[in-house]
Amino acid sequence: MVKQVSILLSGVKPTGRPHIGNYFGAMRQFVDLQKKHVGYIFIADYHALNFIQDKNELKENILNVAIDYLAIGLDPEQTILFKQSDISEHTELAWIFETITTMPYLMRAHAYKDAEAKGNEVSVGTFNYPMLMAADILLYNTDLVPVGQDQKQHIEYARDTAEKFNRTYGNTFKLPKEIILNDTSIVPGTDGQKMSKSYGNTIPLFAKREEIEKKVMSIKTDSSGDFPEHVYAIHKLFKSEEELKSFYKDNKNNYKALKEALIEDIDSYITPFREKRKSINEGEARRVLKEGGEKAKEAAAKKMKEVREKIGVIL
Ligand code: ADP
Ligand code: TRP
Repeated sequence: MVKQVSILLSGVKPTGRPHIGNYFGAMRQFVDLQKKHVGYIFIADYHALNFIQDKNELKENILNVAIDYLAIGLDPEQTILFKQSDISEHTELAWIFETITTMPYLMRAHAYKDAEAKGNEVSVGTFNYPMLMAADILLYNTDLVPVGQDQKQHIEYARDTAEKFNRTYGNTFKLPKEIILNDTSIVPGTDGQKMSKSYGNTIPLFAKREEIEKKVMSIKTDSSGDFPEHVYAIHKLFKSEEELKSFYKDNKNNYKALKEALIEDIDSYITPFREKRKSINEGEARRVLKEGGEKAKEAAAKKMKEVREKIGVIL
């Protein structure tokens, strides 16, 4: 099949086990889109340093993310899977972007404002995060960035930074666009808030049956409407609303039956992922990352050469 020219790219922080919010909000899009577009997926290990400063934990997480992606159906023949730290051009370009970006502009970033509001000490790495992310995206002439809703602002930063560079040094970067799936842009967790590792309200994507049972049984059911809304909100990721509506009507107030049906539906959806995951070993993940890194390096080095010429450091 001849691929369309659009270039797709997304990054994942290796900061823990993925959950169904990550899957429906971001990961799944990639697998769906990979046949039609040129795709890059990278493991944002330098971003993760803002959260993890333990060598063994980071190594394990990086390998796990690679295995997770292969398990959900990412095909390394179609998509270039690589590690950010293997391509030094990311940090190099981020530096150049930092020199054309002002502090007040970065101070408007949600991620920074949230960290500040919580009274956390914010590292320079966290503050500059949008610049590294802009570099991640712009290095590969990316057209489309599939992400969850919470990343929208970061893509705007990448676009603004591309425009600023283009105005300053001449047309160099394409302006990327986010792709956000409307119906799954914010998957709720077991407490009804956005599902997130940091809120402890997740259903892990590769959870075993017993873990799914425990998590589903913990979903809050104090609902004021017709249905227990938090159960329903997760359920509709796995079944059409048409099917669900009559089932929920028939089992009105029978929370146990509704939750048991949800457990069944989650389990049958993720069993194939769990099985596939078991069949992928670390050696395979390392090989895929190495080969992906070689391909990504080629594209990144070419773009960086153009940037170096434009800014005037090639004599
Ligand atoms: P977390 O909040 O659990 O730490 P990350 O920040 O690692 O998740 O997000 C990884 C990707 O998954 C991002 O593209 C993000 O937008 C998406 N994502 C995370 N949580 C959700 C959610 N609850 N619903 C939809 N997408 C999500
Ligand atoms: N910031 C993204 C997240 O928290 C991860 C990420 C880093 C990313 N660089 C990227 C996503 C480039 C898309 C494109 O999930």
